[in-house]
Amino acid sequence: MEVHQVEMVMSAVREAQYPTDGLPEVAFVGRSNVGKSSLTNVLINRKSFARTSSQPGKTQTLNFYKVENKVFFVDVPGYGYAKVSKKARESFAIMIGEYLRKRQPLKGIVQLVDARHLPSKEDIEMYNWLTSDDIGLPVLVVATKADKISRGKWNKVEADIKRELQFNAELSDFEIFSAETKHGKDNVWDWLEARMLD
Ligand code: GTP
Ligand code: MG
Repeated sequence: MEVHQVEMVMSAVREAQYPTDGLPEVAFVGRSNVGKSSLTNVLINRKSFARTSSQPGKTQTLNFYKVENKVFFVDVPGYGYAKVSKKARESFAIMIGEYLRKRQPLKGIVQLVDARHLPSKEDIEMYNWLTSDDIGLPVLVVATKADKISRGKWNKVEADIKRELQFNAELSDFEIFSAETKHGKDNVWDWLEARMLD
């Protein structure tokens, strides 16, 4: 999709604040600092619409971006950020769970992992949960920061990540991505557009 129009519509921490337009939604989840906002910016052709930061833990609400009046991208706070208090982490978990489990317009979830490392325990837990009956939505696993590893290693990276996640090929797809080179952008968009029609 060629994106011309994006609006940051709202930040929400509870259901009453979610948009009511009835547009399909796709959520972006992943460890803090993994590159969720950067992926969003590449997809919408903006340098810094979604705030990126070298400081992890910046995104603390569900941020709904309305794209081309067709779909909402939902930036979800990153998990696994140690400096966030236990209490804050628990309230994030409740907020994220409420959204991912009950949200009818939500058509798919993009889970980002760092291409340079094996998935963390939390990445694996998140993937298991997303693909469990509790949620059971299509998941696109995006291995990002691929510019930091040589192309010759990409196949191995994919195999290693899939093995660690016990990748469920019926419910999920995989894409390697770089916000620096924009590699993978078109494939991610194709996946999102297919979900928007589901
Ligand atoms: P939170 O909002 O804190 O959860 O982080 P986030 O997942 O939104 O990460 P963000 O997009 O802010 O990126 C974190 C850092 O990683 C920034 O310094 C980005 O410039 C960098 N980064 C993100 N994607 C890439 C990528 O594909 N390649 C490289 N080299 N750096 C990236
Ligand atoms: Mg972010």
